[in-house]
Amino acid sequence: MSGACPVDADALAGLEARVQRALAQGDVGDLTVIGFGEISSVLLLDAAAGRFACKRMPRFDGAERVARYGALLEEYLATLRGVGVTPVESWLMSVPEPDGARIVYVVQPFLDPAGLAPKKLAALPEGPGGEAAAAPIIDAIVAATARCVSSTVGLDAQLSNWVFVGDELRYLDVTTPLLTDAQGTTRLDTDLFLASLPALLRGLVKRFVLPDILARYHDRRRTLRDLVANLHKERLTRFVPAFLARSNQELDGPPLTAEECLEDYRSDAATWALLQRLRRWDRAWQRHVRRRPYPFLLPGHIAR
Ligand SMILES: Nc1ncnc2c1ncn2[C@@H]1O[C@H](COP(=O)(O)OP(=O)(O)O)[C@@H](O)[C@H]1O
Ligand SMILES: [Mg+2]
Repeated sequence: MSGACPVDADALAGLEARVQRALAQGDVGDLTVIGFGEISSVLLLDAAAGRFACKRMPRFDGAERVARYGALLEEYLATLRGVGVTPVESWLMSVPEPDGARIVYVVQPFLDPAGLAPKKLAALPEGPGGEAAAAPIIDAIVAATARCVSSTVGLDAQLSNWVFVGDELRYLDVTTPLLTDAQGTTRLDTDLFLASLPALLRGLVKRFVLPDILARYHDRRRTLRDLVANLHKERLTRFVPAFLARSNQELDGPPLTAEECLEDYRSDAATWALLQRLRRWDRAWQRHVRRRPYPFLLPGHIAR
């Protein structure tokens, strides 16, 4: 993180107050939601210093936990740079709550959406001209993924996590620092990331689902398979052959196939859709039975 965050504490507290109002009302209110991720929600902040993408994380229960997360994030950003993947400039900020808890934001400059990898590919014409223009985009993403992913460093290579600033590729999804220790155990404070799940499910997901999700991002083949599979969700299947061919240059063993990727996409879509549905049920339960506001912004229907 390079120097002080250009967004000041008051501006961020103002954004958080708008989020709190939106949550209390049960709609997005006057917020501009740039992206609903599986973990964070990304909000636009128009500040004196410019426009910023503010990634709102689950609630942290104290300053010490925030500091530990901040150190891991910092190390992740440096590690990415070290393997030749440029992260989008990112700053950690937090808004204190009266009870000592913190609402954590990862703040980034708001980058031109036309540079987002899915948009860039979608804008290309059908046919050989479009294919030729896609080649350097595909090459940059697959090469960066292959350079980065190892047993100790992980990355979610899905198209929506990459953005071009001019011709330069940057990685924007840094809120989940995927680093492991020497034993191969994740260094992430995973409980934080499970917080948005219904309480009854957290233990099960932590034990049976999370280890496999995390392992995927440390395995080059599975990460690239996931990147190709995700082209179905992005409605960019016309680029599957080019992504497959380029990915297979980076892989040993049997080549990745289109069928394998489609199968991966189907099982993955089912898992995420189920989690999303469970969260919506939990929200309804919290609001209508427990009569308390639900603390996360949830996406509406996601086409998968
Ligand atoms: N700095 C940014 N500038 C512009 N758009 C962004 C920025 N960061 C995120 N987005 C948009 O929000 C989406 C989700 O952000 P991401 O960091 O990948 O969060 P998640 O971990 O929830 O997937 C991105 O795919 C992109 O469309
Ligand atoms: Mg993402």
